[in-house]
Amino acid sequence: MKFITELKRTHYCGELTKQMSGQKVILAGWVDSRRDHGSLVFIDLRDREGIVQVVLDPNKTETACAKDFRGEYIIALEGVVRERPNGMTNKKIKTGEVEVEAFRCEILNESATPPFQISDSNVSETLRLKYRYLDLRSTRLQQHLMVRHKALQKVRDYFSQNGFIEVETPILYKSTPEGARDYLVPSRVNLGEFYALPQSPQTLKQLLMIAGYDRYFQIARCFRDEDLRADRQPEFTQIDIEMSFIDREDIVKMNEGLLRQLWKEFKGVELGDIPRISYQEAMDRYGSDKPDIRFGMEIKNLGSLVQGSGFKVFDEVLVRGGVIRGLVVPGASSFSRGQLDKLTDLVKKAGAKGLVWAKWEAEDQFNSSVSKFFTQDQLKTWFVSHDGKVGDLLLVVADDFDPACAALSTLRLHLGRELNLIDQTKDAFLWVLDFPLLEYSPDEKRWVARHHPFTAPKDEGIHDLLSMNETKFGNLLAKAYDLVCNGYELAGGSIRIYRNEVQQAMFKVLGMTPEETQLKFGFFLEALKYGTPPHGGIAWGMDRLVMLLCGTDAIREVIAFPKTAKASCLMSDAPSEVSREQLIELGIRLAPSAEKALDDKLKG
Ligand code: AMO
Ligand code: AMP
Repeated sequence: MKFITELKRTHYCGELTKQMSGQKVILAGWVDSRRDHGSLVFIDLRDREGIVQVVLDPNKTETACAKDFRGEYIIALEGVVRERPNGMTNKKIKTGEVEVEAFRCEILNESATPPFQISDSNVSETLRLKYRYLDLRSTRLQQHLMVRHKALQKVRDYFSQNGFIEVETPILYKSTPEGARDYLVPSRVNLGEFYALPQSPQTLKQLLMIAGYDRYFQIARCFRDEDLRADRQPEFTQIDIEMSFIDREDIVKMNEGLLRQLWKEFKGVELGDIPRISYQEAMDRYGSDKPDIRFGMEIKNLGSLVQGSGFKVFDEVLVRGGVIRGLVVPGASSFSRGQLDKLTDLVKKAGAKGLVWAKWEAEDQFNSSVSKFFTQDQLKTWFVSHDGKVGDLLLVVADDFDPACAALSTLRLHLGRELNLIDQTKDAFLWVLDFPLLEYSPDEKRWVARHHPFTAPKDEGIHDLLSMNETKFGNLLAKAYDLVCNGYELAGGSIRIYRNEVQQAMFKVLGMTPEETQLKFGFFLEALKYGTPPHGGIAWGMDRLVMLLCGTDAIREVIAFPKTAKASCLMSDAPSEVSREQLIELGIRLAPSAEKALDDKLKG
């Protein structure tokens, strides 16, 4: 290993430029590809910063080992930077105007034949996740992790400059409810007892406000055992913040400040005013509390236009207080029966019972799946009163409010993508405000907190909460807010309850007995008694932020070692079986169902 000791690397491959022509450099890295022309060997040498082409003469003793180079071998070399001859530049790489003529090289380590070529974009994700350390060598993931690093730096600088203190909070802790299941860790020292990994540092950051730290932030790892989706991981990172003596406006301004800096720095974009809409308006116009507002196609209300038609589906829904809403799809009157059937399947999967369609085919010609029940004039009114035009399609769902919203939102997003209505070059932010405080869970037969149990109700609702006026629970609004971008919930937070009796009432509303409340949150209620300032905060999904900065729609693309949809790591095979001894030490015996699952796995 003469190179490492005698000659130190002088540059990264990706740093070399035309201005450095004639300069001597020492490089070290991985052989990305090799082209042997007999008298000359060309290799693409790769390191963290990029790729550069190197030319070697294998007939010279000092560069003879170039004959043995294979993909992913690690080599070091000394050479001279030179401009590539006219017509030989490669625009695809940033060093494409230069190459290095090597006069000395050495193999530092060999590599087994890799299971895929690093730059090959047609490799299955399963294989790439198994060999994640190889995929991490790709320019794609290198860039993503670099953006992540830089964004983290920016976030730290921003909050530090604004008087926030970074405080680390424990991972081995007590359940912090954010609506998911907890990951539990058994305690060996206290047999039979468990820590819960934090779903967020919610209670801890509030305790820091009680402790007088005034402005806190943390790049916090959170753990949630929930169904995974493209934008969800079982462990993920939040930019978690909390402030004292503030109101919603302070939180919004502080966070918009960061957002503006990030978009300016990473995307070169000056963000304009960020619109704000209420939860109710978001649901009415888009059917979703995290709408993608890069395109229109807003939901229309047809309730008043379809009353008393004799069409059973509509009449029944109206009688039971449901809604009849639809979307005008521009230029889609030519959709075939097959296409409409597919859309019907889509809304059914989203929870609706069916889909009515109407087409404005020509000036005075309308067609509809409910033509039997509505005259041509009535169909025309549907379109005209919702800015429809000749050639448009109207899709209508009749249902209770929530399933109708869910179906129409799914339909809207599907058609937006399908019909290319979404401007992918743009990011569209909005604040969604005034969420409901509570929602009724028919499964659990109780009220649950829409954000979390520490969120303050709007002032006008405090009395109903304290007096346990259940008839009003469904209408109470919360001092909660979400920052939404392109259909993702990027950040969410709230102004908190800071009075002990309100917090106690909240736990009661959520169906917790005094004993349960004491066991789970006794310490927190106790702390609230000792001079708690008014406070509030927010948490950003750091991974989602990086996804948006990188322009990718898979969260796995911005996490170094992500998990699959089944919450496992294909590289290390976590989670995995542990020894009997370990279990005994922890006082744990597997249930028959777990034994069987392990057996089944072993049998494959
Ligand atoms: P919330 O539960 O809304 O609020 O989470 C805040 C943000 O974290 C991100 N996020 C996730 N990202 C990836 N994978 C997941 N499984 C996942 N779950 C959530 C989202 C979300 O907006 N303690 C409160 C914050 C507060 O009130 O201050 C909280 O955790 O981007
Ligand atoms: P049915 O009475 O179930 O045969 O439905 C008649 C038509 O109405 C079919 O085209 C269904 O897809 C549609 N439909 C049924 N239920 C709904 C609903 N809740 N909303 C909109 N359309 C529906």
